[in-house]
Amino acid sequence: MRIIVANDYDQLSSRASDIIASQLILKPNSVLGLATGSTPIGTYAKLIGMFQDGKIDFADVIAFNLDEYYGLAAQDHRSYAFFMATHFFNHINIPRERTYIPNGLAPDIEEECYQYEAKIRQAGGIDLQLLGIGHNGHIGFNEPDVKFEALTHLVHLDEDTIHANARFFASLDEVPRLAISMGIKTIMHARKILLLASGKEKAATIAGMVHGKITPELPASVLQLHPDVTVVVDKEAGAALGSIR
Ligand code: GLP
Repeated sequence: MRIIVANDYDQLSSRASDIIASQLILKPNSVLGLATGSTPIGTYAKLIGMFQDGKIDFADVIAFNLDEYYGLAAQDHRSYAFFMATHFFNHINIPRERTYIPNGLAPDIEEECYQYEAKIRQAGGIDLQLLGIGHNGHIGFNEPDVKFEALTHLVHLDEDTIHANARFFASLDEVPRLAISMGIKTIMHARKILLLASGKEKAATIAGMVHGKITPELPASVLQLHPDVTVVVDKEAGAALGSIR
């Protein structure tokens, strides 16, 4: 695991966008795995800036998002499809038919999950997967559990996650209890992984992910087994990493 400690959120976003930009320069038809949450918003903003400056191009990119709330339509302003459109896709030249997000209204969830995996395979697999991390160590929506969930699947969200994500909803009751998420195996199959974390409330989770034991109780700890992971944290999120870097 490669750890980069940025001075602050702005520098974290610069580092992350530079890493993604270099991926696109080296392989313009990259398959990107993308994430939602507050953390990558600055990274997306910087990538949009690089696109506007003519430094990077998304015409040949394919993108797969990690997850989507179950029960929300893509047009719903609280859905991850809406988040991606407003924070990223509407501002770059990625063809919309090359952006994939699980369908939160899929009538047959099993089929939706199966087809999502099939599309990732058909695209040649994910070259670079961007990740945030939940307070409880979740990646995508893979919540702490007694086993690692393998492929794209339906998730029952943890109370902790429901509370953390309530800030995007009018009330706690409105937060969906279910989501569709890539599984740990889907994420681990990405050729490269870039995980971002900001703020002191993530410090213990990041230290556990990097130095703790590998356990489905802290899902992100599985990344210790991946051969090409870059973690970009700001000083606050990296505070418990100590001198071992
Ligand atoms: C949600 C997403 C995760 C994301 C997490 C952290 O639960 N499903 O992919 O990593 O939020 O969000 P934030 O970056 O806002 O802390």
